[in-house]
Amino acid sequence: MKTDAPSVPQSPDRRKAIARYHKTTPQNENTTMQRRHFLKSIALTGTAGLVLPRTRLFGADAPSNKLNVALLGTWGRGEAHFGALASENVVALCDVNEEHLAFAAKKFPDAKHYTDWRQCLDHQGLEAIVCCTTDHTHAFVANWAMNRGLHVYCEKPLANSVEEARLVRATYLKNKHKLATQVGTQRHAIENFNRVRELIRDGAIGELQEVSTWGDRQIPRPGYLPAQGEPPSYLHYDLWLGPSPFHPYNPGYFAGGPGMNCLSWNMYWDFGSGQVGDMGSHTMDLAWNAIDAGLPTSAEGKGDPFNPEVTPVRLQMHFDHPSNDWRPAIRVSWYQGGALPESPARFIDLKKIDHGALFEGTKGYLVASFDSRILFPNDRGADLTYYKPRTKETVLPPLGDFQKQWIHACKGNLKTSCDFDYGGNMIEMMLLGLVAYRVGKKISYDGAAGRVTDSPEANELLRCTYRPGWTLNG
Ligand SMILES: NC(=O)c1ccc[n+]([C@@H]2O[C@H](COP(=O)([O-])OP(=O)(O)OC[C@H]3O[C@@H](n4cnc5c(N)ncnc54)[C@H](O)[C@@H]3O)[C@@H](O)[C@H]2O)c1
Repeated sequence: MKTDAPSVPQSPDRRKAIARYHKTTPQNENTTMQRRHFLKSIALTGTAGLVLPRTRLFGADAPSNKLNVALLGTWGRGEAHFGALASENVVALCDVNEEHLAFAAKKFPDAKHYTDWRQCLDHQGLEAIVCCTTDHTHAFVANWAMNRGLHVYCEKPLANSVEEARLVRATYLKNKHKLATQVGTQRHAIENFNRVRELIRDGAIGELQEVSTWGDRQIPRPGYLPAQGEPPSYLHYDLWLGPSPFHPYNPGYFAGGPGMNCLSWNMYWDFGSGQVGDMGSHTMDLAWNAIDAGLPTSAEGKGDPFNPEVTPVRLQMHFDHPSNDWRPAIRVSWYQGGALPESPARFIDLKKIDHGALFEGTKGYLVASFDSRILFPNDRGADLTYYKPRTKETVLPPLGDFQKQWIHACKGNLKTSCDFDYGGNMIEMMLLGLVAYRVGKKISYDGAAGRVTDSPEANELLRCTYRPGWTLNG
């Protein structure tokens, strides 16, 4: 395992990219980008050597312009992508469970079947993949796919360690001129995300001071499940374990319903990061979209007593973020499993919001769930005369269909709202919080180097241990 995680510079133009993205509808941007791309191709190659990108002459949705895509993880969350993929060429299906392959084959009968994602990624003519496998394989699949020139949609969480998050982000940044990526935080398309961003950016609560997010799920587990029986013949259990250290088979890891089975394994350190990576990915996104943050300079975490096998149920994590060009330095927090930030008023019961965000500013508060919000001005001159609501013409445009946004991006403009730069930073921060929780003290972080500067013990925890034969960056 490498300890020299690549240095990932902050992306200085991330904010500008967001602003550019919000100024143009995906549709318009697509068309403009396609035209630009086409003209550039002609300029570069001349007409004799004209190599046309497969996008693009007749628009992203033209029948001739289908994407050759593979679905990895073909049941459960995988099924949520059937609709968006139905308009493309699904050329390959990959699942460690042959019954789940058969399930997806009913929808995509022409696709070739794989049980090992490493072989699937080498499918001839493949252009893009959607990854819905277990969390502990996401960074592997994403890195390997980008290294092969494939566009990637990866379900959340994007990584299972700080090192994984940094590598996925670095691989993406190297390839961002040619690849489209999207982390599967599809709630990002809810229009409330835009409204929250506008209120914060436009100063409805004055100058932003602090942001807290929380989720109330509680899934306690005592420890890894004991050996029980043999894996069924249709399940390639060793491939399911993949890079994870060995744990014996137990049907309990596979007992959840479709789209919920992740709750049967994601509490265990080797397979996931509990609610931090699960609902934390969605809920922190509500804040992340509004605060234009990069990596924190410190992290701390406290909660349930540390269990080396299972992630904590109750937990709170806090991060210091430097100022940027529109706000001062802020503190960003995540609370879970019953822990909550203090409510700004006795009559606002944060417990009633299962997953939410609280923004605190010099002139008041904004409390948001995924799809609604309350603005709560304080008594310190917060008469709202300083704040000008947007007009219908100036509100941020709706994102549209989240999965389709990525498909359009693969075919032309490469622009998505939750690319691996945006999502990579966010999950790196969250996973760093788990490291701070494990060492039980506040740690200082050098985000450019990817190093904890005051705890050698914490540095050791930035990475996972893998089984021999598995390479993160293959
Ligand atoms: N965006 C969302 O709202 C959302 C919702 C649910 C789940 N998810 C995410 O989707 C992922 C899958 O969750 P799930 O509940 O469907 O889990 P699951 O355990 O049901 O796995 C999904 C499918 O992937 C297959 N699979 C597992 N490991 C594989 C591997 N190494 N190679 C190929 N196939 C493999 C399984 O056999 C199954 O068919 C998780 O990372 C979870 O966080 C996201």
